Formats: sequence, C-alpha cells, structure tokens
Amino acid sequence: MAGPYVMAIDQGTTSTRAMVFDRESNVIALDQREHRQIYPQPGWVEHDPMEIWERTQEVVRNALAKSNLTGREIAAIGITNQRETTIVWNKRSGKPYMNAIVWQDTRTDQICTQLERQGYAQLYRERAGLPISTYFSGPKLQWILENVPEVRRDAERGEALFGNVDTWEIWWLTGGPDGGVHVTDVSNASRTMLMNLRTLDWDDEILKIHGIPRQMLPQIRPSSDPQLYGKTTSFGPLGAEVPVCGDLGDQQAALVGQASLDVGMAKNTYGTGSFLLLNTGTEIVPSKSGLITTAAYKFGNGPCIYALEGSIAITGAAVQWLRDNLGLIKTSPEVEELARTVEDNGGIYFVPYFSGAFAPYWRLDARGVIVGLTRFINKGHIARATLEATAYQTRDVVEAMEADSGIRLAELRVDGGMVFNELLMQFQADILGVPTVRPVIAETTSLGAAYAAGLAVGYWNSPEEIRQYWKEDKRWQPQMDEARREKLYAGWKKAVERSFGWVE
Ligand code: G3P
Repeated sequence: MAGPYVMAIDQGTTSTRAMVFDRESNVIALDQREHRQIYPQPGWVEHDPMEIWERTQEVVRNALAKSNLTGREIAAIGITNQRETTIVWNKRSGKPYMNAIVWQDTRTDQICTQLERQGYAQLYRERAGLPISTYFSGPKLQWILENVPEVRRDAERGEALFGNVDTWEIWWLTGGPDGGVHVTDVSNASRTMLMNLRTLDWDDEILKIHGIPRQMLPQIRPSSDPQLYGKTTSFGPLGAEVPVCGDLGDQQAALVGQASLDVGMAKNTYGTGSFLLLNTGTEIVPSKSGLITTAAYKFGNGPCIYALEGSIAITGAAVQWLRDNLGLIKTSPEVEELARTVEDNGGIYFVPYFSGAFAPYWRLDARGVIVGLTRFINKGHIARATLEATAYQTRDVVEAMEADSGIRLAELRVDGGMVFNELLMQFQADILGVPTVRPVIAETTSLGAAYAAGLAVGYWNSPEEIRQYWKEDKRWQPQMDEARREKLYAGWKKAVERSFGWVE
C-alpha cells in the first residue's frame, strides 16, 4: 500500500476544502478556501470553474504542508462535490466555454416548463427518479448548448466535454489536457436527469429530448473504484502519482461518512441547503410525497445502493444572505447570538424559497417571503425566523419520508456547518419531536469521500469496518410540548402557501 493517509477534496457551493484522514478516521489536516458567488441577474448563480480548480490546488498543497506530508504518503484520494452544477469545457485547452451554472440557478425555468407541458414528467420520474426542475444538470446543459454557439459544434466533434464539479476536478487532477480522465460516478450522474437509475447508463431517449450528444458526457463509474479512475500527476498539487478512486456527490458522501449503510438509516446535512437522505438499499423506491429517488453509492462490483432524498435549497444560504445582502451579522455563526436576543419569532415566518420550492413541493413559481411583519419585529426576530425555517423545512421532508417509507424516524443524525448552532439543533428536535444526534466527526462529507477512496485501494477492508468509527458527540432531546409544536408548524404551512404562484 502506497501511504499511511487518505485525502478527500470537498468542492462545495461556497468553498473548497482538502482533508487528510488516518485509518481511525481522525482528521490530520484541513484547509479551506471560499470562491466567488457570481449573480449576473436575478435567479442566476454562477461559479468560475478555473477559480474552483485554483482553490482546489491551494487547499491540497496547504493541507499537505499543514500536516508535514508529501503526496507520496497519501494512499488514495476521493472527491466529493456540490452536485448538479454544470460545466462545459474544451478538451484541448481545458478552457470552460462559460461560467459554471450552479445548482441554485433558475435560468432554465422556461426549458422545464416546456418539458412539463410536453407531458414528460412521468418519464423523468420513472427513469431518472426526479421531478422536472431547474435544479438538475440536464436542462442546464441544454441551455448551454442552445445559448453558447461554439458548444454545439465542438460537442458534435467530441471536443467539448460536460461535467459536474467532480468530473471537472478529476479531469484536472489526472492531467487535464494532458490525458485527464473524463468520468463521474453513479451518485453524481443520478442528479443530471439524464441517467437511467436501473441501467446506470445515460438514457438515449432523454438525451434526445434535450439534444445532448452522448460523446460530451463522462463515463459513469462506481463511487469507489478498485480499477482507479486514474492517478494524479507528479506535476499537479500532490506532486506524486496518487490513485484517484473515490467520487461521491456531497450528500451521498455524508450518508457514507455517517455510516448510514443499512436500509432505513437516514442523515440530514445542514450546508448551503439541507439534504435528508434515507438509505433504501438495492431497492429503487419511487416517491409519492415529493421526494426524489437517487443513487446513493456503488462500491466496486457491489450493487448500486439507492436513497430517497429530501432536497432543501436554502438553509445555511439564508444565513449568508442575512450576512452578505442585509448586513445584519458579520459572520454566519453570529446568527445564533442575534437570534437569542429575542424569545421567539414574534409571529413571523421566513420562507427562503430563493430558487423556487424544492422538496416536497417542487414549485418553480415559488419565491421567498417573510410573513406576519408588524412594527414589533426587529432583526433578532428575522435571525430567529431564518434558523427556524431550516428546522421547518426539515420537518416538511421528514414527513414526506415517513409517508413514503412507512418508517417513523427514531432520531435524526445531523452533520454540516450548522450543527454547531445549539439553538437550531434544539429547535430542530423540538419541531420534529425526535432527538437530533451529532457525531464526533461532523466532517462527514469529506470522510465519506475518503472512505470511498480508501475502500478502493484496500486502505479500509470493508464497509463494515467503517461503521465502528461512528461515535455520538451530542444529542438534543425534544423539550417542546405537542400543542405548541403543532401550532408553530401550522403557521409555517400557511406561510409556505403564501410563497407559491409568485413567478409566472
Ligand atoms: O445538491 C446540491 C448540494 O450538493 C450542495 O451541497 O453542501 O455545497 O450546499 P452544499
């Protein structure tokens, strides 16, 4: 075996981090850098792919330097990423044709409305497990093909490549224009609307609907691949040839990092948005309640494991909005202090549907609202309502999940940046009526990617082995009485209704 450590790169919506883990899953080093959020017009959200690759190289170098390691001591590297975000670049130059269209971007609403009108909703549900939504990559890629003239020409010639951020990162890590490999894994591919969940291959009929040439799509591989996707180059940020062999969308990575590997196990990650995933094993469970069906992971030759997912677009991003757009706080963690200046929400609800409503409603026509405002309301109430919105949206998807699966949640495993917000975690337990539980290693996304890479090269022997590393750190018990819980939640439901129908 090559080295005593495993590295994970987590390329997220707002930042990129590199983490080094040892065999007992201890964090040896971490480095993180933010990148620019570009908003060219209302509803549009972009990232600069070159900036993302630069940040990636920096964090990899810094993580190695901080831990006094060289690339030769890394046994394998795994990638995890913001999902759905769409990049098209030139195979020879490595230059993107335009900025990445981020998952939150709603510019494809016309394309999606058209698909709905053409009666395709059922087809996407059945084959891809997804509703028609601006959220996914397929409509974004169609938009690029239709709006950037050189892309169609180059795509037909096999010179323009499509990828989500995992594909982009792996291509550069393995050499870029000098032999970079063009691959993705089942978990990421299942977010494009273009992959058939049963065959785990691109669906030709769907490609035709969007006018997407197959040759621009990456090869779909296992999430943990003993065949290796490729190796890093000695001239890259690792400075050595390290196997690249783990790839998971960030939410699926968190499911693995939470060791939720058995049917019926669930986790909720609180990042820019929040994403609740329930492991359904080898069964593809269609949702009747507004969840989506997604590939969770595939380890080597093992079967594909699926999940039901409740995707919430805006949770942590609403806190960033208070910080960046309203200037109510200077740093995100300050939101808790501000929220604690008031006793309750003062009767207001903030429904942060900035990108339309995701699960369980999937309403393209929804936008954010704050309801119940009076002269009494101050910034403390706004901060509180922002945090509460995270918990209410989670309850919306938990209810959908219970309806779909028939499984009543006994507790909720949580992770992600917001789980250090005590007020939120307590309110979450209160509004769900079940405990929230945080593991010792809350960096579950990176850990999941590290597990995928490490399992591929035998650094860890089996998925069973990684279960033993999950340990509880903190548990919040529900304290709110039933009547108050239901009264508050009924108010939320009413507020949600007010957000619908805002956009034509
Ligand atoms: O589907 C979007 C999701 O992958 C984004 O995750 O953690 O970057 O907000 P995050």
